[in-house]
Parts: sequence; structure tokens; C-alpha cells
Amino acid sequence: MVDIFHEEDGDISFLEGKTIAIIGYGNQGRAQALNLRDSGLEVIIGNLNDKYRRIAMNDDFPVYSIKEATEISDIIFLLIPDEVMNDVFEREIRAYIQPNSVLVFASGYNIGFKQLKPPEDLDIILIAPRMIGVGVREKFLKNEGFFSYIAVKQDPSGQAKQTLLALAKAIGTLKKGAIMISFKQEAELDLFNEQAFGPAFGRVLLSSIYTLIEAGYPAEVVLIEMYMSGEMAYTYQKMADIGLIKQLDFHSQTSQYGAMSRGIRFRNLPYKQKMNEILEEIQEGEFAKEWKKKITKLKFKMIKYFATKQKINKLERQVRKNLKLKLYDIYEENPPTKEELSELKEISVELDEFKRYYE
Ligand code: NAI
Repeated sequence: MVDIFHEEDGDISFLEGKTIAIIGYGNQGRAQALNLRDSGLEVIIGNLNDKYRRIAMNDDFPVYSIKEATEISDIIFLLIPDEVMNDVFEREIRAYIQPNSVLVFASGYNIGFKQLKPPEDLDIILIAPRMIGVGVREKFLKNEGFFSYIAVKQDPSGQAKQTLLALAKAIGTLKKGAIMISFKQEAELDLFNEQAFGPAFGRVLLSSIYTLIEAGYPAEVVLIEMYMSGEMAYTYQKMADIGLIKQLDFHSQTSQYGAMSRGIRFRNLPYKQKMNEILEEIQEGEFAKEWKKKITKLKFKMIKYFATKQKINKLERQVRKNLKLKLYDIYEENPPTKEELSELKEISVELDEFKRYYE
């Protein structure tokens, strides 16, 4: 049984007199800052001079540079993208952070995969919401709460867990429940969802779409059937609300019989084996190592270039037009330059595979 914490486990008064700096006022930053302030805590923002700074000022927060906010706070939340976090930490936080402060993460990635090595005198804690930022705020306002994974990595003060639970309560997650795991486990779960479940689900979705289109069904009804109606989102919500199998009650008898009796034909697809492979790569730190390499950023650019040229993009655009739905710009990656192509020569065979895959 995991350790799971609720409202009665956190004491917000433990944080009295502490100044909390939220570094980064984006998806999570804004939601968490507003929730902490509404819970009666003193919150300041540290941000670059960009549109997020202006949003924070409009929300009536005192806004400082990242260095200044770090210097005058006791608890520092790092709520900027994981990819830039290490550089920002080295450049604008490490030298300015007060001894014995608390550093709070919303993702286990950089600590779990040892990309960021913080000073030993800091308490290092994690509050990783299983919820997008907008949801973190909405659920707080509705008094509903949301699940989070929490962790303590360093505890030189001996008070890290108390601080963690007080902050978790103030953010609003204890209303639903916060589960204690490790930084690395949080990052692994997140990556697995993105790298195994996400792409496998995407493949199944595309295969279904093309099966129907090749069989002559109009693209409009195929896309509505498969995802544009938004019906799947309700089914997912019902799975969370009442249970994976119990939600079948919301579907007709015909639908239930059809799904269950035909489901068995998909049992031998090799997904499980692939998923184990991907999980192992993540756990061994191979993915984190690969993502850190300079060439990987170029490889990413190329894969995205191929991926955004997939025929589903054009098809979807036409369907949205026909259905009079709002049109959004399709993301377009610039073609690679000559220099980039020559740098990518060493992985050209691998890249050709991606090109074919997305054709
Ligand atoms: P975001 O992409 O919304 O971050 C934007 C903020 O980062 C802005 O304040 C911007 O000024 C700042 N920023 C961007 N580049 C910067 C740079 N080079 N130097 C300094 N500041 C920079 O970030 P998001 O999505 O809120 O993620 C923050 C943390 O929360 C990450 O660790 C992420 O893994 C975690 N997380 C995010 C979730 C989400 O809903 N997006 C869900 C759970 C955790």
C-alpha cells in the first residue's frame, strides 16, 4: 500500500512568516501561485521580462527577476520548462539561493535523472500534480482537489516532509490525495505515459481512421466518429469517476457485447513487449542521456518536420473546414539547412526510417 496524504496531514500554519518564490508564471506557475496566495501564504514571482511577467503583474503579484526573487525567499518553486531548468538554475539561482532554503519541483525529471545537482544544505521536495495548470486552479476553486505525486529527496532540516505537506495542502492537492513516491519514479511514469501509451494509442487511432477511409467512409464522419465528437473524453472521465469496467453501463448492450466479444482478437498484438522495452530504456536513464545530446535536438527537429507533413494533417484541415470548425495554423517546421543536414549524416539511415514511417 502506498503512503497517501489528505487534508488532515498538512498544517499550513507551519509556513507562517515564510516567503515563497514561484519561478516561472506559466501553466503550473500561475495556478500554483494563485492557490498558495488564496491559502494565505506570502507569494512573490520571479520571471523573465516576457508575457508571463505581465500576466503575473496583472494578477497583482510582486514580480522580480529570477535572481532577486530567489535571494529574498525561503521556499523556491522551479516552475519553468524542464529543458531550460538546469541552465537557469546554474546561471540565476545557485549563487543566490539562501542557505537552508527549500527547493520545490513539479516534475521529477531533472533530479531523478541527475541532470541537476542542488547544494546539499537545501531541502529538495516534489509536488507533481496529475493535472494541467488550468485544472489545478479550477479544482482548487471548486474545492475538489486533484491527485499529485510527492517526494522528498534531501532533508537536511529534518522538516522537509512537514513543509511538503503544508505546501501540498495550500496548493489544494490534499483534498483529493497526494501519494509519496520518488523523484525518479515520478519521471519514469510520466515518460512511460508519453513514450509508450501515447504513441501506441496514436497508432491505434490512425489505423482505425485509415481502415474506415480506405473502406470508403467520408472523412468527416470518420474523424467525428473517432475523436472529433469529444465523446471519448466523456468515456475517459467516466472511467476516472466510476471505474474502467463500470463505465460500460453508459454504453448500450450492443456496444458492450461487441467490444468484449471482439476485444479478444487484439490480445496478441506485440504492444506489451514494446512497452517493457521502452520502460527499461527510461529506467536505465538511456532516454535522459539521449535527450541531453546536441544531435538529439537536431534529430527532434527532423522528426517533427516529417511528422507534421503526415497526410492526416491535411485531411483534418479539410474536414474542419467542411464542418465549419475553427481553423488553426498547422505547425510547420522549417526544412533543415545544409549545415544541419551534414551534421545529421551519421544518423541518416535512422532518419530515413522516420521519413518512411510518417509518409
Ligand atoms: P511553461 O512552459 O508554462 O513555463 C513557462 C514559464 O517558464 C514562463 O514563466 C516563462 O517565462 C518561463 N521560462 C521559459 N523559458 C525560460 C528560460 N529560458 N529562462 C527562464 N524562464 C523561462 O511550464 P509548465 O508547463 O508550467 O511546466 C513547469 C513545470 O511543471 C515543469 O517542471 C513541468 O514538467 C511541470 N508540470 C507541468 C504540467 C503542465 O500542466 N504543463 C503538469 C505537471 C507538472
